[in-house]
Amino acid sequence: MMQRYGRITGWGKYLPPKVLTNFDLEQIVDTTDEWIVSRTGIRQRRMVEDGETNSGMSVKSAQAALAKAQLDPNQLDLIIVATSSPDYFVPPVSSMVQHALGAKGVGAFTLVAGCTGFVYALATAQQFIAAGQADNVLVIGTEILTRNLNWRDRNTCVLFGDASAAVVVQASTEPTGVLSQVLGSDGSGAEALIVRGGGTTIPMSQRVVDEGLHHLEMDGPEVFKFATRTLSRAVRKAVSASGLSLDEINMIIPHQANMRIIELAATLLRLPVDRFYVNLDRYGNTSAASIPLALCEALDEGAVRDGDNLVLVGFGAGLTWAASVVRIGVVESVPTLTAPRMVPLSQFRGAAKRVAGRVLETAVPFVLPLYSRVLRIRKRKPLS
Ligand code: UT7
Repeated sequence: MMQRYGRITGWGKYLPPKVLTNFDLEQIVDTTDEWIVSRTGIRQRRMVEDGETNSGMSVKSAQAALAKAQLDPNQLDLIIVATSSPDYFVPPVSSMVQHALGAKGVGAFTLVAGCTGFVYALATAQQFIAAGQADNVLVIGTEILTRNLNWRDRNTCVLFGDASAAVVVQASTEPTGVLSQVLGSDGSGAEALIVRGGGTTIPMSQRVVDEGLHHLEMDGPEVFKFATRTLSRAVRKAVSASGLSLDEINMIIPHQANMRIIELAATLLRLPVDRFYVNLDRYGNTSAASIPLALCEALDEGAVRDGDNLVLVGFGAGLTWAASVVRIGVVESVPTLTAPRMVPLSQFRGAAKRVAGRVLETAVPFVLPLYSRVLRIRKRKPLS
């Protein structure tokens, strides 16, 4: 079989309108704009209002990505939602998104890999496409982190924000889209970034609420060390697996956690820091949404252009890390494959019913008179 690539043909984002600045935080917790900017680079972040949901934000970013790709939700073969903050533990938020998009019967699942989730999801989409199991995949990275933060813990509450971003990945024989991927995990660091309560180890209870175990806890310096160790290594591995050299990489789109982590990675990779796309000053750390959000903005601003080679690189809870080399392809000039798609059974049944209905509608006016004539003939000439 000809090599199949997962080309990004559509992208879209949704940001809750409410902005929370560092100065707003100064009113809530013992911090200063000066500390946050100098230690992280973050100046403001978005925050959901009451009534906004992870699924609702996902649908909005997905619709924008589908519109850009000029793809109907029913043409999708698979939907992957990367998140650690779903609407509910059960049902999976991916099915809620699939239903709300009107992607009837399309397979959907939620992928949890912390801040690395989107890069894992993109790699998964690429594998479905490479194996010929899907032609059109929607990949979403979405988080509502502000609802699980402890607003008295200055170590965490100044860092995170809410956002959603999505891409459409379509099969192509041109070497565009995802060219390589490196996935990693080290569960020995599980406690460095954790929500202790509300799972099956410590189920939700009065104790969880009283002790604030439903909040996100982070050992910042530990995660910082891990991130700086991992980021440059993952980039080098993904670039080498793609057959390219670092010089051929036009832009690195890193997880947007901390400007100091990005600066250190630039030093270790001996690259100028402007080779890294940064928007964490405006949105803070949006976990699984941060890389697709940065990718969307880089594409929309023209910071990334057709033919550019990018590295998407994430790190976070787990601890996990992942990197992918992605080549941006010219949407108009690269043909997408038109191989037979996986058709969800429900769609097939629906289509079969519609066809049967049409046949009946058309045939009844002809068949009925014919049938009654046969009956009349039979009456006149009874069989002996
Ligand atoms: O998305 C998942 C990946 N997450 C990350 O990559 C986060 C990685 N970690 C970091 O980015 C950094 O570790 C932080 C930004 C979280 C913290 O920066 P740091 O330079 O490692 O600070 P620290 O935790 O070592 O704290 C230094 C000081 C402490 O005070 P003392 O003990 O020296 O008196 C903290 O209490 O800064 C204090 N501090 C603050 N002060 C004002 C911590 N947070 C704040 C704050 N405002 N918000």
